[in-house]
Amino acid sequence: MSERLVVIGSQWGDEGKGKITDYFACRADMVVRYQGGNNAGHTVVFDGNKYSLQSIPSGIFNPATINVMGNGMVVNPVSVVAELQKLHDRGITDYQLFISDRAAMVMPWHADLDGAYEAKKGDSLIGTTKKGIGPTYSDKYARTGLRMGDLLEPEYFAERLRGALDVKNLELRMLGLKEYDFQEVYDQYMELAKQIGHMITDTSDLINGYLRRDDKRVLFEGAQGMMLCCDHGTYPFVTSSSPSAAGVPVGAGVAPKWIDNVLGVAKAYCTRVGEGPFPTELFDQRAHDIRERGHEYGTVTGRPRRVGWFDAVVARYTGRLAGIDNWALMLFDVLSGLDKVMICTGYELDGEVITSPPSTISRLARCKPVLIEMEGWKEDISGVKNFDELPEAAKAYVRKIEELTEIPVGIISVGPDRTQTITVAETLRKW
Ligand code: GDP
Ligand code: IMO
Ligand code: MG
Repeated sequence: MSERLVVIGSQWGDEGKGKITDYFACRADMVVRYQGGNNAGHTVVFDGNKYSLQSIPSGIFNPATINVMGNGMVVNPVSVVAELQKLHDRGITDYQLFISDRAAMVMPWHADLDGAYEAKKGDSLIGTTKKGIGPTYSDKYARTGLRMGDLLEPEYFAERLRGALDVKNLELRMLGLKEYDFQEVYDQYMELAKQIGHMITDTSDLINGYLRRDDKRVLFEGAQGMMLCCDHGTYPFVTSSSPSAAGVPVGAGVAPKWIDNVLGVAKAYCTRVGEGPFPTELFDQRAHDIRERGHEYGTVTGRPRRVGWFDAVVARYTGRLAGIDNWALMLFDVLSGLDKVMICTGYELDGEVITSPPSTISRLARCKPVLIEMEGWKEDISGVKNFDELPEAAKAYVRKIEELTEIPVGIISVGPDRTQTITVAETLRKW
């Protein structure tokens, strides 16, 4: 039987999933994205080069790895072509990439609608990436959307496009937005099909072929983070898919029995980009210092990320929901230099202490973090190769996270580069 690894974000996204996926990609025969789209921004750093990927899996830099964009994704063909062009321009030309024929296709009006819905929300806007992610998933579940495989059958594509435009142009008109001409969109998408049509296939068949083989390793790369999950996150300030390990079977077209070995990627503190409650958020100089040291600015939108302490309430919750086996504790180097570091162990809500996030944002917004204070450390740890070499205070911080979450820390990341990775768990060292 194959070996599997599921890499998921356990906070509000941008935890370092791209770095971790790339770290394992040299040993993975296949890397599969199973949800989200080009709202993601996954950074990979090696050999002095930095790359940012939106919808293309982070295994793309290893020529031997098969990269799959699964059926649960929303795929924007314009953006895929642009991303591939960017990679080509930087000499990344030797790769293997397949796109599911069942993946929902982002159409030009989806981004327009995303922007218009946000504008209508006024102060209560979500702060989306405006890539059309929500509108594309809405159309998928309304059964009016187009799918990537449609591009391979021009007549069928034309029929689906006509049907979609009949409704969408009405909506666009009502919102005072530009309407789309059938022929223009048809020609544009047929041109895109010429460029990426050969990559579109039944990827579930491909993945299952690998899962059944003893000598294959398959890595599932989540996007976003559990607290942005449409079901379990801080609804409605969430994305429109399930970034959980539970999203893998549906989003990749595999049976649930293949889902094990879940690596929860977590920053050693927390960040959030966009609106919505964030109980451990910091607003003082410490937030500024962490933001600057961690270069906490959005990969996709460039927005400054909000910064807060590590939240063990969130970590326990996402650990439970996604069945996290190990943490990959990221950006640990960024905490160096702070006198004290804090961890949130519970929330005080209306005079009571609770240990799991409430379901409504009205209650979550009233939650005050219950914090424990720990000694900080001054040493630069970005060159540390083994757990034992870490300062005692840093070790104590890791141990506290393990104790509070009852999940071991399997990886500690001390810098953006591939090589700045300490693998603690024996199972992960062998993977
Ligand atoms: P993703 O969306 O989960 O893949 O994460 P992003 O790439 O959006 O954001 C993570 C940022 O942190 C990127 O700029 C990474 O290069 C950087 N990064 C990842 N791990 C570390 C680390 O251990 N230390 C530091 N200083 N930066 C890191
Ligand atoms: P990665 O994979 C951080 C956030 C947006 C917004 C909300 C909804 O890089 O971790 P959407 O465009 O999805 O409808 O926006 O979700 N968001 C992310 N935040 N990292 C991401 O991806 C995100 N993808 C979406 O900022 O608050
Ligand atoms: Mg990101």
